[in-house]
Amino acid sequence: MAYASFRDFLTTLEKAGELTRVGVPVDTELLITEWADREMKSPGGGKALLFEQPVVDGKVSKFPVAINTMGSRKRMAMALGRESIDDIAQEIQLILKAKPPTSLRDGFALLKQGIHLLHARPKTVREAPCQDVVRILDPGSAMLDEKNRASSIQHPESAGFTLRDLPILKCWPKDGGRFITLPHVHTRDPETGARNVGCYRMQIFDERTTAMHWQVHKVGARHGKRYYERNERMPVAVTLGGDPALSFAATAPLPDGIDEILFAGFLRKKSIEMVKCKTVDLEVPAEADFVLEGYVQPGESRAEGPFGDHTGYYTAIEDYPVFHLTAITHRKDAIYPTTIVGIPPMEDFYMGDASVRIFLPVFKMNFPELVDMTLPAEGVFHNLVFVSIRKQYPYQAFKVMHGLWGMGQMMFSKYIVVVDEDCDVHNTSEVLFRLCANTDPERDTSVIKNPSDSLDHAPSEQNIGSHMGFDATRKLPGENYRRQWPELLKMTDEAKKLVDELQKKTR
Ligand SMILES: Cc1cc2nc3c(=O)[nH]c(=O)nc-3n(C[C@H](O)[C@H](O)[C@H](O)COP(=O)(O)O)c2cc1C
Repeated sequence: MAYASFRDFLTTLEKAGELTRVGVPVDTELLITEWADREMKSPGGGKALLFEQPVVDGKVSKFPVAINTMGSRKRMAMALGRESIDDIAQEIQLILKAKPPTSLRDGFALLKQGIHLLHARPKTVREAPCQDVVRILDPGSAMLDEKNRASSIQHPESAGFTLRDLPILKCWPKDGGRFITLPHVHTRDPETGARNVGCYRMQIFDERTTAMHWQVHKVGARHGKRYYERNERMPVAVTLGGDPALSFAATAPLPDGIDEILFAGFLRKKSIEMVKCKTVDLEVPAEADFVLEGYVQPGESRAEGPFGDHTGYYTAIEDYPVFHLTAITHRKDAIYPTTIVGIPPMEDFYMGDASVRIFLPVFKMNFPELVDMTLPAEGVFHNLVFVSIRKQYPYQAFKVMHGLWGMGQMMFSKYIVVVDEDCDVHNTSEVLFRLCANTDPERDTSVIKNPSDSLDHAPSEQNIGSHMGFDATRKLPGENYRRQWPELLKMTDEAKKLVDELQKKTR
């Protein structure tokens, strides 16, 4: 089921008892973070919050703030219009296994998938809610025709509206300023024309400029490099809100070249409608709540940070490209979507968790022995990966960890623990038991060099570091274990059944 708007998604959450409205004025500086952090750390991720009167610089903003909207397994699935995220994994598996149908049932299933994929293709529209209100900040912009210039001047709500009117949070006490934390940053490869949408935070510098925090390994940075080499100004459009499927797609580690707009269309089973921007040569989703249009100038950078990051620490000040705004457009009834990151568990855990579960069939295609995989909240995405495998031959655990280190953003995985198939990777206690019980540190570990997450403060140098794999599987002949591997304790099924019955009687 596709949402017509971000507001529509919030209404669905509210009807399901998944959203709490906060009617009192709450300051966007620190107080929304403190409130949302308590909610995110409550059992199962708490509820989504809608702050109806967010306060910016002493004034109540006319735009409400929504936060923690994807911060539980249930809400993450609801954001993608499913009962469970595993339904999407099954749909992907079906596509991956697509082959000529052998039965009528197979045939219908494939046909359904084909239709959904057709629906995924974006459509272009001329009129769009995201341009209800248009505020042109750079009237000299090349893209601007007479009609748009007139609409910007005539629209009564556009007069005087700036970035400062958005209820953008200052999240943590020592943050360098206010940060947009859930943006969809739309760029194009100038050579191939391929589109990318990534979620990269943006620090507000003033009414017309922000930082653009695309880290060196990300696709936005690669597109930027292409423009810098050509010494051309890079058009960038940032959207906020709209169907949450795009918020998820912008954070998902899709391979470079896979279009997030198409992927979001596949997820919501309906094309995303796109509209041309007013001042830059890019298209954006018509249903977005806000659009920030602008450009990045080759070679220009500015100090960004500090920022209370998902590592649980402040990331240091560093130079990042500057984003210049040429226009802001928005829906009349826009809602500002945001999130906070910090000491886990936070909302982003559920987004990362959904990515792993959705792409598990792709991992399984690469590693047929792979049974399950998870990135526990304590590891803040890349720091810790638990994988279970059906082991057949010696050193297979090492083959799997080295393979994972070579796959896209899995390259950042700091610690990978491989266990046998009978261990539940979602039960951290069980994995730690296997790790401690089944490893001889010297024999069962592998330390390698690989790129590191830019935000990881532990490596001696940024962006590079060592990574460690643990083979916590039972040892096979050929793995330098010269004793008899012991048997894991297990109760008989019969005894379990008898005790079940006895306990029922005593309750
Ligand atoms: C809440 C949130 C904030 C994020 N902020 C950033 C950021 O500031 N910079 C960055 O490079 N990646 C950030 N990420 C991670 C990227 O969105 C993620 O790596 C994504 O796959 C990048 O897309 P790309 O591969 O198209 O570049 C963030 C993720 C989340 C969930």
